[in-house]
Amino acid sequence: MSINIPRGTQDILPGTVEKWQHIEKIATEICRNYQYKEIRTPIFEHTELFQRGVGDTTDIVQKEMYTFTDRGDRSLTLRPEGTAAVVRSFVENKMFGDPNQPVKLYYNGPMFRYERPQSGRYRQFVQFGVEAIGSEDPAIDAEVMALVMDIYKTAGLQKVELVLNSLGDKDSRVAYRNALIEHFQPRIGEFCEDCQSRLEKNPMRILDCKKDREHELMKSAPSILDYLNEYSRTYFEKVQSYLTALGIDFTIDPTLVRGLDYYNHTAFEVMSRADGFGAITTLCGGGRYNGLVSQMGGPDVPGIGFAFSMERFLAAMEAEGIAWEDDNRLDCYVVSLGEEAKDYTVKLVHDLRTAGMKAERDYQNRKMKAQFKAADRLQARFVAILGEDELKENKINIKDMETGEQQEIALDQFVETLRKKMEEK
Ligand code: HAM
Repeated sequence: MSINIPRGTQDILPGTVEKWQHIEKIATEICRNYQYKEIRTPIFEHTELFQRGVGDTTDIVQKEMYTFTDRGDRSLTLRPEGTAAVVRSFVENKMFGDPNQPVKLYYNGPMFRYERPQSGRYRQFVQFGVEAIGSEDPAIDAEVMALVMDIYKTAGLQKVELVLNSLGDKDSRVAYRNALIEHFQPRIGEFCEDCQSRLEKNPMRILDCKKDREHELMKSAPSILDYLNEYSRTYFEKVQSYLTALGIDFTIDPTLVRGLDYYNHTAFEVMSRADGFGAITTLCGGGRYNGLVSQMGGPDVPGIGFAFSMERFLAAMEAEGIAWEDDNRLDCYVVSLGEEAKDYTVKLVHDLRTAGMKAERDYQNRKMKAQFKAADRLQARFVAILGEDELKENKINIKDMETGEQQEIALDQFVETLRKKMEEK
């Protein structure tokens, strides 16, 4: 009996991997321009990190974590997201002492959530994210959003929309929380069980409920924007004015609350508006988390970041019909005829490769015609032909597959000649 891949995971095969590499290249280069440096944290962490960081009342912690006990009886969890771990590392490595503040980091790696798999939703998915920790300047909020929009635009995506909200500071949240409780309490019995338990613990999450989305109280719910205090309102206005100055379009959605507990002030998502993208349209989510570092045992340092999944990025590119050339064409296929010549090509192909060219030969004992076919499949620019006679005379034939031109040259000139020809291409 064969063993299949686990539900909600996928193999990224050659042919598709190149698309991932293409996006990763764009994203990492843009991160460099914005001066974000890569950080790599473990795939698993102490379970408590996510309980405390992401929040006990969130779906992620309550329903979606891959938690296990190791042989030392420790409770560990496969990371469901990157922010909590980056903040842990920031505190543990005392990055707050770095003279370069804010500390600007990016990461790229697999995350794990036990969710119901569907198009765009996996149990293992890859997040690319950034975190800027150590500044409460609205300019950094704008920078982080500019960065992600820059990545999408550079990849060619046009139908993407930045949606923005402010969740205010602690005081604004308390006022808003009370207003929400007052609004929902009298009719909370009409809502789902999750919403009922959220009423006291985290009423803002009710606004995010998929089941009760159409309930009339949802539409008439008070708006967070009416509860922002002076500081929060001014902060939000400043973020918007910076975005406008950068020429970045955005829409304000006061119902955008985000599913993780650590957010305050700026919260944002990037949505795909491409036709046929599918039911889940969120490409990227992020926001500010000013209390998280101190909650993790560090100093009271603010932070902001985002993460997008590579899977949804690729789906958006597909929905918008964005294609690009992956130039992995072979430079030279070395065809051989006869046992001795075959042996000789082992070294010949190696020499081409170490000289920086993409080279290949036959390993299947194929006849000459089949070797030519293989060269065609690999779209070889040149084919070199080494037969017994050529070998005796220390010569080799080179055929330019685009022009059909053939040339016989001395074997010891082969690598150098081919390199020059490649430079001319
Ligand atoms: P999040 O909204 O939970 O935020 O996830 C961010 C992004 O990860 C989503 O917008 C989506 O693209 C992708 N994603 C989430 N779950 C899945 C899934 N099951 N399958 C495929 N893609 C998925 C966070 O994780 C925060 N840590 C973001 C952040 C960074 N906030 C501040 N800094």
